[in-house]
Amino acid sequence: MELVTGATGYVGGKLIERLLAESRGVRAMARNPDLLEPREGVETMRGDVLSGEGVRAALDGCEVAYYLVHSMEAAGPGEDFSTRDRRAAENFASDAREAGVRRVVYLGGIAPAEAPPSPHLASRLEVERILLESAPQATALRASILIGAGSSSFRMLVRLVERLRLLPLPAWRTNRTQPIAERDAIEFLARTPAVAAAAGRSLDIAGPDVITYGAMVEQIAELMGVGRTPVSLGASLTPAASALVSAVTEQPLELVRPLMESLEHELLPRDASEAPLMYGIRSLPFDRAVERALARWEVAEKLGAR
Ligand SMILES: NC(=O)c1ccc[n+]([C@@H]2O[C@H](COP(=O)([O-])OP(=O)(O)OC[C@H]3O[C@@H](n4cnc5c(N)ncnc54)[C@H](OP(=O)(O)O)[C@@H]3O)[C@@H](O)[C@H]2O)c1
Repeated sequence: MELVTGATGYVGGKLIERLLAESRGVRAMARNPDLLEPREGVETMRGDVLSGEGVRAALDGCEVAYYLVHSMEAAGPGEDFSTRDRRAAENFASDAREAGVRRVVYLGGIAPAEAPPSPHLASRLEVERILLESAPQATALRASILIGAGSSSFRMLVRLVERLRLLPLPAWRTNRTQPIAERDAIEFLARTPAVAAAAGRSLDIAGPDVITYGAMVEQIAELMGVGRTPVSLGASLTPAASALVSAVTEQPLELVRPLMESLEHELLPRDASEAPLMYGIRSLPFDRAVERALARWEVAEKLGAR
């Protein structure tokens, strides 16, 4: 049995589909399991990593447990997201140890090589450290932006292109990253329990293209078939830019701000060829990943600018 936490979320939901395609036994954990569509082959359980309620029972009898929990909800008084994320990961790690789970698999973010990580990335790295100690063969995968119709960071970029004719691009437009197609990130997660060389360590996963944030936005506009005029700005302007992005994309500032802070440095994999060689996965180029994501987006939702 394999436990998927964050089952109502973007990555967790996609992973469950992928595991079912291989007829793997799945237990889906959610704070509110009523939100999960009943599916053959999926056992659902209620669990909250922050309070710890239900987690130990959900882990019982699982060989593998995926930790795909993430919360940008406004923190209560005296608590920021890093305190909450640490508490949640510690609760889960201690229950996983007690339940004797062999493999814990986590997806976090790529760390900047030449600067301290943003508070959000630092917190994701702290969660990684806690989880790597939670099982004898834990694996942490680190990714930059996932290109998929349900990915909050990709959705923000698409909504900006959709809604703004003039695209203000602050100083971080020249920073580079290496996004990964949703299909490939999910494939890395699904295969991890069978990859012995990935046990007990973190690995960076990325697509084949190194691209600046500015070029990423411009290519998305081109692939959406809309003419947009980029306007280069001299400074990073993260607080003002976050407020603008939050208003334009109608996403909460608590979600947008940490993501925008992450753009202030290059986010490149430590070694882009290691994971693909280890897993035998050949990742999709950026443009094909975007085309697939936009096509899937339009099956479910309208895209105004197209
Ligand atoms: N999306 C990307 O581009 C991207 C890129 C790199 C890495 N990642 C990593 O992938 C992981 C999953 O991200 P995502 O994009 O799938 O996030 P998401 O869509 O926001 O999903 C987060 C999940 O966490 C659950 N959750 C929140 N608080 C919880 C709690 N106290 N107890 C149990 N479950 C709780 C949520 O459940 P509720 O429905 O109850 O709120 C939801 O199912 C994160 O570690 C993230 O850093 C994502």
